[in-house]
Amino acid sequence: MQRRDYIKLLLSGIGSLLFKIPLKALQLNRPIHSKHFGTFYWGVATAAYQIEGSHDVDGKGLSIWDTFSNKSGNIKDKNNGNTACNFYYTYKEDIEILKNLNFKDFRFSLSWSRIFPHDNSKVNQKGIDFYHRIIDTCLEKNINPWITLYHWDLPQYIQEKGGWANREVLNYFEEFAHTTSKTYGDKVSKWMVLNEPAAFTTFGYLTGIHAPGKISLNSYFASVHHAVLAQSLGGKILRENVKNSFIGTTFSCSPVEPASQKAKNIRAARRLDVAVNRMFIEPSLGMGYPSNDFRLLESLNKYIKEGDEAKMPFEFDFIGLQHYFRIIAKYSLARPFIWATDMDPKKRGVETTAMNWEVHPESMYHIIKYFSKYPIKQIIISESGAAFEDSITNGSINDIRRIKFFDETLQQVLRAKNEGINVSGYFVWTFMDNFEWAEGYRPRFGIVHNDFNTQKRTVKDSGYWFKEFLSSEI
Ligand code: FCB
Repeated sequence: MQRRDYIKLLLSGIGSLLFKIPLKALQLNRPIHSKHFGTFYWGVATAAYQIEGSHDVDGKGLSIWDTFSNKSGNIKDKNNGNTACNFYYTYKEDIEILKNLNFKDFRFSLSWSRIFPHDNSKVNQKGIDFYHRIIDTCLEKNINPWITLYHWDLPQYIQEKGGWANREVLNYFEEFAHTTSKTYGDKVSKWMVLNEPAAFTTFGYLTGIHAPGKISLNSYFASVHHAVLAQSLGGKILRENVKNSFIGTTFSCSPVEPASQKAKNIRAARRLDVAVNRMFIEPSLGMGYPSNDFRLLESLNKYIKEGDEAKMPFEFDFIGLQHYFRIIAKYSLARPFIWATDMDPKKRGVETTAMNWEVHPESMYHIIKYFSKYPIKQIIISESGAAFEDSITNGSINDIRRIKFFDETLQQVLRAKNEGINVSGYFVWTFMDNFEWAEGYRPRFGIVHNDFNTQKRTVKDSGYWFKEFLSSEI
């Protein structure tokens, strides 16, 4: 956004406060519009545990997130996801809201322990029916459903056996992928296998800040290898069972820059780049693990069985990139094994979101460009968004900072697309404020506000901004 336009936007926001004119009614001078992107998927992204609630309703079993978030000390402000946004009951009204905002695509994940609550032997019909209801509501309203198979909520009974660190997880995952793709594959063609394997293996098994809260290098490497195998296994099963399938998987990703040109910082940046960006995509493309650039990855050999190398690749139709911040890498003795740290943005004096993530829209362009060097058919931004403090004034939320973020970020996506990179979609993270994992309910990422006491939804001005932005899509 040009500085001039931003000032106009700011003034119109102030105007809306002074004269109580809803921002949505004002003509914003917007430099970009969805029509500049041509044929493009425009959606919102969500995840089961973060919105559904009803953690023990209709036969649902426990997931690792139920266990983890109900243990004191794990989540900020003693929050848990037991109720979250109550989406289990409000899905109809919520999907109606997203339709009214002119979105055509809705990404949600399946709660594995709703479908297989206790073990692999018995499917919970009520869990199956819930997702049929969501899918049917989407289809009635002309919204494309996009299913994520796994967005972090592993059933607790699998965790009892070691979770992702135990190779047996693959048998369970195979059954889960098979059953769900057979069940919904006639109605839903667009699927994503895993959500951010680098995040759930690192935070769940190495740093322990997410479920299941393990801190072990061995468990970490085991879980990495099993997630790599699950990624391609899921892709193959979906290909077999889904009609006109369009299959992807998603990666968290960040451009990594060395803090200086000192050799040790450059090497630190290389190691972080491997761990953050390369460890999952490269095996899926048949390139194996990038151990040459980070010798510690040889620890994976312990878990690689004969024949695994051939099982790791899968030809995805698209790769979902989920980019939130860039990393400035510095050599650090305080971080054993990786000997690298990302410099705290606060200390760098840059603007940050409520997650303490640097606001740096150009990174979106850089990360798309970075991934475009790989032989990927299509790139879809499967999550992108920002948490900022919001306040309700006279019933409206004038989240001007979030609007600016989306405007600038989308310009960077368009920049990459205009250079000929095959970017074909953008999913906002997220539809409504929800349970933000270990951070609880404090960081608000939604373009729709949620009052967690009353479950009242209020579309933020960023939501209306998208409505206008997408107005030619209807
Ligand atoms: C991503 C997660 C998503 C959400 C955003 C903020 O890493 O996939 O569930 O928490 O971060």
